Order: sequence, then structure tokens, then C-alpha cells
Amino acid sequence: MLSKKSLLTASSQPVFRLASVADEAARVVFAREQFAFLLQLAYSGELAATRAYLGHRHSLKSRLERAEIGKIIRDEIRHRRCLLDMLAEVGSAPDPGRERKMERVGRAISLFCHVGGWFFAMYGAGRLEAQNIREYELGARLAHLAELHRFIDPLLEMAEVEWDHERYFRSKAMSHWLWRMVPNWAEPPPRERIRVAFREFESKAELPVLRVRAPRLVR
Ligand SMILES: [Fe+2]
Ligand SMILES: [Fe+2]
Repeated sequence: MLSKKSLLTASSQPVFRLASVADEAARVVFAREQFAFLLQLAYSGELAATRAYLGHRHSLKSRLERAEIGKIIRDEIRHRRCLLDMLAEVGSAPDPGRERKMERVGRAISLFCHVGGWFFAMYGAGRLEAQNIREYELGARLAHLAELHRFIDPLLEMAEVEWDHERYFRSKAMSHWLWRMVPNWAEPPPRERIRVAFREFESKAELPVLRVRAPRLVR
């Protein structure tokens, strides 16, 4: 489920070639590299999200909706801060090239919100948030594989917050007649499944080796 195609967020693929690596230490080193890469991708992804939502908020007429998006913006800024701390803790740092790329992506989406109309801004945001849930679930799994257990809970919590965001944008998009005219993305499993699925992963006898893939649009 975590390896679905993602446009703007990191996804993963199991590495079959390495899956049988007997050397536990090599697996942990590989997982740590992948984890640090995911943190860089997610960190810059949050920049794009923040920029995009600033434009989205500005495009809205309803005061209530502007306040709701304002709360989501604060969540994304908090996520970014948390990811920056994690990056420092694993001895890594944001990737300047990716930061520039995602800044441009965020600004483009922000602009789109002003011309694309209310529905497509809500619809697009919901689609991306669905991918963000999976990105943080993947982060928690990689933290487990990398034996960086202190990061698991904050990452699962971020996945839950993205779940809330997806729910918000989905319900907004669904309230519009255009919802029935466009392809819909799959509804994420119930919120509680995030932690249950993680426990299931954790208790597997044979853990997979996961390689992080950069988002398709900005690879
Ligand atoms: Fe976020
Ligand atoms: Fe979000």
C-alpha cells in the first residue's frame, strides 16, 4: 500500500536484490540512508505545501475556510520544524536543490489556486494529502528498520494529521457537483489503521528492505 505512485511525495519500493542481505548491520546502514533521504524529501514537500496553502487561503472568499486552511498551514510549518530537527539528529541537512524545486512547485500551485477555481484547489489538495499520509507511514517504517525508534511516534502522529487534512479536503471536494465528474482517489483506510498497520509491520518476522523513491514530478 505504501508504494503507490506519488506525484509530489516520497514513496517506496521493496529492494528484492538486497532483501536477502544476511548482514544485519548493512541493512541498518542502508535503512538509515533511506530514512535521511525521506526526511529531505518530506521537509521540502512541506515547504511546497505551505507555499501552496498560503495561495489557497488567499484565493478563498469564506472567512471560515480561510481560518481552516490557516490551521492546516500551521500544521505543515510544525511538521517542517520537526523534520528539520530529525535531519539534524541523523547528521543530515535539507537539500538546497530540492528546496528550490519545491519552492517553485509550491508557488505554481499557489498561482493555480487563483485561476483553477474553488473545487480544483480543494480536490488537488486532498489528492496530495492522501500521498502525505503514506509518506509518513513509510517514514515510521524506515525509522524502525534503521533502529531509530524515537522517531516512530512523531512520524505516525504526522501521518494522522495528514489523514485529518485529507479528510477535510475530501469532504470539501465531495460537496461540489464536479466531484462526480472527475476521477476520485481511493479513500484512505480509517485513521486507527495507521498505528495498527505499523504494529503489524513491526511484528513481521522478516522485514523488507525499502528503497525511497523521489516524487515523480520532481525527481
Ligand atoms: Fe504536513
Ligand atoms: Fe498536510
